[in-house]
Amino acid sequence: MPTRRTLVVVAHPDLASSRVTAHLADAIGDLEHVTVHNIAATYPDGRIDVAREQQLLREHDVIVWQFPWHWYSVPAVLKSWIDQVLEFGFAYGPGGTALHGKTLQLVTSAGGPAHSYRTDGHNRFTIAELLRPIDATAHLTGMRLATPLVLFGARTASDEDLSLHAKQYRALLTP
Ligand SMILES: Cc1cc2nc3c(=O)[nH]c(=O)nc-3n(C[C@H](O)[C@H](O)[C@H](O)COP(=O)(O)O)c2cc1C
Repeated sequence: MPTRRTLVVVAHPDLASSRVTAHLADAIGDLEHVTVHNIAATYPDGRIDVAREQQLLREHDVIVWQFPWHWYSVPAVLKSWIDQVLEFGFAYGPGGTALHGKTLQLVTSAGGPAHSYRTDGHNRFTIAELLRPIDATAHLTGMRLATPLVLFGARTASDEDLSLHAKQYRALLTP
């Protein structure tokens, strides 16, 4: 099978202040078939070049959304990107087939520990439940949603935990 071209959309409001997202992005940056795309740095004023983003999506088979978990959801910078880029006629609606057959891989990190993301835990819902809007988005746009890669307890993760997780991420993107 040919190598699947992979676009990693890194969505952190301020990557310079990030520990986890920055480390994970560094861990996969040298993979030949991977394009790492930091959207907050590319569009500091929030004005997204929609045509450019849509072209990037067309050129890749696997789309990764890599982001810190903010208020039980994606950060505003990614929500804004989704709102603007996944347009009617491109991602859904008549003729909106550009994303059909692609894989959507979510890579995220949450401050809460794994046991807090259970029905009987502090956060009451599992990550899969909280990700249902993205599940619906993948379905509407014809993408296959892969099992998300989640680092729980992100704030207290040791350097060793982080390195191990980065290795898993790299393995996930390596054919
Ligand atoms: C604005 C904001 C909202 C957050 N919301 C959540 C949340 O809803 N649940 C959670 O488990 N962690 C939450 N966190 C913690 C982040 O997910 C965590 O700090 C992040 O994954 C660490 O990644 P980074 O080093 O790349 O910033 C939040 C952090 C910020 C700054």
